[in-house]
Amino acid sequence: MDTTSPSHSTSLPGHTGKWFASDFNFNHLYPLYIQALASKHWTPLKVVEKASRFLAATPGAKILDIGSGPGKFCIAGAYYNPDVFFYGIEQRIDLVRYASVAKEMAGFNNITFMHGNVLELDFRQYDHFYFFNSFYENLPGTYKIDDRFVYSRTLYHQYNRYLHYQLGKVPAGTRLVTYHCTEDEAPQGYRLVRAEIDRLLKFWIKD
Ligand SMILES: C[S@@+](CC[C@H](N)C(=O)[O-])C[C@H]1O[C@@H](n2cnc3c(N)ncnc32)[C@H](O)[C@@H]1O
Repeated sequence: MDTTSPSHSTSLPGHTGKWFASDFNFNHLYPLYIQALASKHWTPLKVVEKASRFLAATPGAKILDIGSGPGKFCIAGAYYNPDVFFYGIEQRIDLVRYASVAKEMAGFNNITFMHGNVLELDFRQYDHFYFFNSFYENLPGTYKIDDRFVYSRTLYHQYNRYLHYQLGKVPAGTRLVTYHCTEDEAPQGYRLVRAEIDRLLKFWIKD
């Protein structure tokens, strides 16, 4: 697995808030084809704000975005929560590169983007988790980011099983936010503490 930012430190001084005034502004951190995918695939800023504030429960916490795309959740999360560390794992190398460029443009260094498959990660290295139904593209009839991968129901189930196994290994008190996930995907042992946006956005704590 490649990482694009091995060290941790706080947000750079002088980062600009202009990118975070709207989703439209934020999109301009990316090339046009990444912008064109935003409405279907990248988390809206108002959702990032709610989710990341819930996950940033303690200063210094390590928050993992499972399937981080071009990094919107981590970058905007770092803007709203300068005292925690954001990590993203993403299987598409081009998206990891765009994420790294956007991170530099926005002026943060409390973010680490990793290129790899979620199957390579041990979740015990992180404190809290964000999941925007990343494996959904494996199901037939769903919007795909591109046609570079072979999609299958088998992969969808394999990834979800791994996700649930990993979420089962982390300690009580772990926080999780899911976006666009169905109730069936509720992880065992996690208590739903809040739901918003027609139950598309759910906040969980492990008992
Ligand atoms: C719906 S997008 C969400 C992007 C980002 N988390 C956000 O909220 O803006 C899901 C991302 O997960 C990635 N992904 C899907 N399966 C993955 C896997 N097995 N390992 C790593 N990344 C994966 C996809 O490439 C895609 O970029």
